[in-house]
This record gives sequence, structure tokens and C-alpha cells, in this order.
Amino acid sequence: MKIPFEPGYREKYHKLLEDIFESNFLSEGAMVERFEEAFGRYIGMPCLAVTNGGAGLLSIFEYIGVQGKEVVVPANTFWATAVAAKRAGANVIYADCNRDDLCLSLEDLKKKVTKDTKAVAVVHIGGHIAFEVEGIAAFCKERGIALVEDCAHVHGGEWNGKTGGAWGLAGSYSFYATKTMPTGEGGIVCSKDEKFLEWLGYYRNYGKSVEKGKVAYKIKDGFNFRMNEITAAFGLVQLERLPMILEWKRDLAAKYDGIFENRVKFPSGMSSGYYKYIVFDYALKVETGKVFAQSDFGPEIENIGYDLPNSRWVAEHHSCPPIFYGWEGAGKNIEELKGILLR
Ligand SMILES: Cc1ncc(COP(=O)(O)O)c(C=O)c1O
Repeated sequence: MKIPFEPGYREKYHKLLEDIFESNFLSEGAMVERFEEAFGRYIGMPCLAVTNGGAGLLSIFEYIGVQGKEVVVPANTFWATAVAAKRAGANVIYADCNRDDLCLSLEDLKKKVTKDTKAVAVVHIGGHIAFEVEGIAAFCKERGIALVEDCAHVHGGEWNGKTGGAWGLAGSYSFYATKTMPTGEGGIVCSKDEKFLEWLGYYRNYGKSVEKGKVAYKIKDGFNFRMNEITAAFGLVQLERLPMILEWKRDLAAKYDGIFENRVKFPSGMSSGYYKYIVFDYALKVETGKVFAQSDFGPEIENIGYDLPNSRWVAEHHSCPPIFYGWEGAGKNIEELKGILLR
């Protein structure tokens, strides 16, 4: 199957590339700002673009200052979440997930938090909002702990009008090639905290600020996490396609709802962006990879011997019928889909 990319959008992308050539800027030009504004408008929060979702997470942990402190991370995530905290100097403590949403368990979080906990990461797994995000945010606020949202999967997911990044200090989205809104590589950090955003603007650019042609170093330990103009142009086009892609996914999900009774079921007011469609205990003839298999949890989980029963259960019991945009089975009816998918 070819990467689906409709002709009208190709023309738009080519036009934006022409704009880049005309502008003479391959980096630090107007296209990244346009993309940040457009994505920010879409999710309802200010945004700054970065090189990838992991860089966004690392930036947030660096700002919080987790060096030598504990950060609670769900075991059921891609290792990127944990390793971002570790690179910022944290001692990562793994918490379990719930079986119904695959996301961080508030009950287990409460057991894992200590006086040294500086931050908690919640990951919106598979395209939906973590069901306990309100309680997790309230708990973190009460304890003076920073909440970081890993939004790598959650493009288009929302709960009563709020989306990923709305509950914590900041959220980091990924535009990796397989995501619902891919640019190949790329990421964006959203936050309502102006002080953090000002800091990130310097941090992602080696700590530099250029004002009226004069360079000043506002922070000492910044690095290069700048998005380039071409990625931003692609991002603008992908963002325009996103509503159409979400509609396509939601149509297919509605058919799957008629096939799979034992699945992730969303609370009232929540709609998933359907990065994945998640079912439990079905033997499927056709499936995409799991959201996360135990190997995705990273090299530490097996060795440390944490008690993470739900994370292990979820890794073993869930599977994902295809819901990637362009899957040729999507046009089939429910009976035909049963024949294609079920053993
Ligand atoms: C949950 C999660 N967090 C973070 C990342 C890292 O994003 P990126 O690949 O853009 O660095 C990924 C994967 O790609 C992910 O699945």
C-alpha cells in the first residue's frame, strides 16, 4: 500500500515548499511559526515546535528540574517517556496502568509517590485521554508535583472539549511517521504556562535569544531541538488533513464497535483520535502491532522486578485491528469485516 496522500494536498504542500524557497529560510523562518499557530489554534493552547516528541518530553523535564529527584512514569508506555526523564537526571519510578484505559492508575500512582517525587508523567495511550487524568491532575496539584502529559498518540482525542496537554504543566505531541498526524519526524510542545514557553523558546535554540540582531544567552544548558521549515510545511498540510482522517477512523471504529464487545470503552463526553483501536482477548487474523508489547516498556522493567500486574496483563491480552488511515478493509461492511478479522 502506498502512503495515502491525496492530490489536492500534494499541491498545497508543493506551494508551501515554494514559499520556503522564496523566503530563503530553511530554519528559523515563518513556516514553523505558522505551524505553531495553526496547531495551537486546533488544540486551543500555545505551542512551540521541536524536533520530535521525545525532545519535547526531555525539555519539559529539564524545565521542571528533576535532576536527582523521582519521576513517576507508567510502565505501559514506550520507553521514550521514561528515558526522557532519565536523561534529565531523574530516578524513574514505574507505576501500573488500569485495565480499562491502559493509562496511568491513580491508585498505583498514590502508592509510588514519595517526598522526593518532583514530576508525574501521564501518557494518553492509543488516542484517548487517560480516564483518570482529572484525579491525577488534582492529586499532583495538591502535592505540589508537576504533571507532564505525553501526547504522542492523542491527536484528535478529546474529553468534554479538552485535549491532551490541557491538564498538566505541558504536553508533548509526536509527529513520527506512524502517528495519526505524521510528518516523518517532529514534535510540538503545548502549555498554558507563559514562563515555561519563554524558557522553551530559548532552550530549544541552545539557550539563545536574538533581539535586534544581538545574541544573548538566556539559559546556559539549552540544546538544538528546533524544527526545520520543511517539516513545518508538511505539518500544516497534515493538520489540514487531520479532520478528514479522524472522520475516516471514527467511521471504521463505529463498525468495529459492532464487532468487538470486549474493547476499550470511553466515558461520556470522550472521543478518541483512534491512533489505535484496542480490543481484549480476541484472536485476530489481521492486526496491526499492539499499542505496546512488554518489550516496548524498555530495558528496565524485566530486571527491576516491579509489581506491575495490569501493565503485564494489558500487554498480553490486548490487540489492535487495523485503523491506520488508508487501510483497504475500511470500506467493507460489518459482516465482511468479521470474516476478514476474526478467527
Ligand atoms: C508514548 C510515546 N511517547 C513518546 C514517543 C516518542 O516520540 P518521538 O518518536 O517523536 O520522539 C513515542 C513514540 O514514538 C510514544 O509512543
